[in-house]
Amino acid sequence: MELREELKSRASYFEGELERFCSSQDACIPARLREAMDYSLLAGGKRLRPVLCMAGAELFGADRSSVLPMALAFEMVHTASLIHDDLPCMDNDTLRRGKPTNHVVYGETLALLAGDALFLYAFETALGGLLQNGTDPKRALDAVNLFSQALGPSGICGGQVLDTDEASREDRETFVTDIASMKTMVLIRAALCSGAILAGAAGEELERLMEYGRCVGIAFQVADDILDVVGTQAEMGKTLGKDAEQDKRTFVLVHGLDGARKLLHELTQTAVSQLDIFGGKAEFLRELALYLENRTR
Ligand code: IPE
Ligand code: IPE
Ligand code: MG
Ligand code: MG
Ligand code: MG
Repeated sequence: MELREELKSRASYFEGELERFCSSQDACIPARLREAMDYSLLAGGKRLRPVLCMAGAELFGADRSSVLPMALAFEMVHTASLIHDDLPCMDNDTLRRGKPTNHVVYGETLALLAGDALFLYAFETALGGLLQNGTDPKRALDAVNLFSQALGPSGICGGQVLDTDEASREDRETFVTDIASMKTMVLIRAALCSGAILAGAAGEELERLMEYGRCVGIAFQVADDILDVVGTQAEMGKTLGKDAEQDKRTFVLVHGLDGARKLLHELTQTAVSQLDIFGGKAEFLRELALYLENRTR
């Protein structure tokens, strides 16, 4: 199967499970909050993080359904980070996943709370689901530990501070990589590796997967920065050209368009080379890295 089709099929499996999850949600959640959470959660998106989580598990012989609670948690926190990222106090965006942003529809207060709720609901979903499906408790703790580290002060929150706070800005070439690592890479790497950990990954295999995740995760933000300049709004589903307008430290600003493309290529090559020890089993991850290098959405 061509990678594009394979990716679509994996994302639509997840999409089906997500819809099922949302329609059976806790009755105690206030209706408007639930509506605001579902609005962004069910607005589409590439579903890359859950796809990676399931691929990590499959690489180590587990069924994708066994890591579904973890995959759902990753999509919830990713969506939460997008809701917050779009707020007027952050990137002030009005279009996301092809629809008006959460705060445009529900107002800033509800958008802030929907993001908070999704961040925390992710923990309930992951821990509750993994306890219920009989996952080994040590593996569950290790996976949720990696997940937690991706969200806090040395993860997304820290990265978003470096991205938005003028006083934190540093004038060195590696600063943009620090921003991308914290705001984007750690979550992508954790998605893949926590799926693998739940399936029993350890030792050198896990280290290789972590390095693959690091390279693909940074590459993902390099591509996002490039697409902000050369992408189309129809494909990206968000307003483009905003990084330059908001004077963001991006890979394109620091390295130029050609330099950013070169970096993207090098990161992709390094990512792919980590997969050698897995042989044919890692075909999907190999193809995925190459596909993401050339993505247009
Ligand atoms: C957007 O992530 C935010 C970044 C980390 C660059 P995605 O490009 O994965 O967004 P969706 O999930 O497809 O909407
Ligand atoms: C966002 O980076 C990373 C997050 C943690 C949400 P961007 O600000 O570049 O993401 P987009 O371009 O708005 O999707
Ligand atoms: Mg941002
Ligand atoms: Mg943004
Ligand atoms: Mg961007």
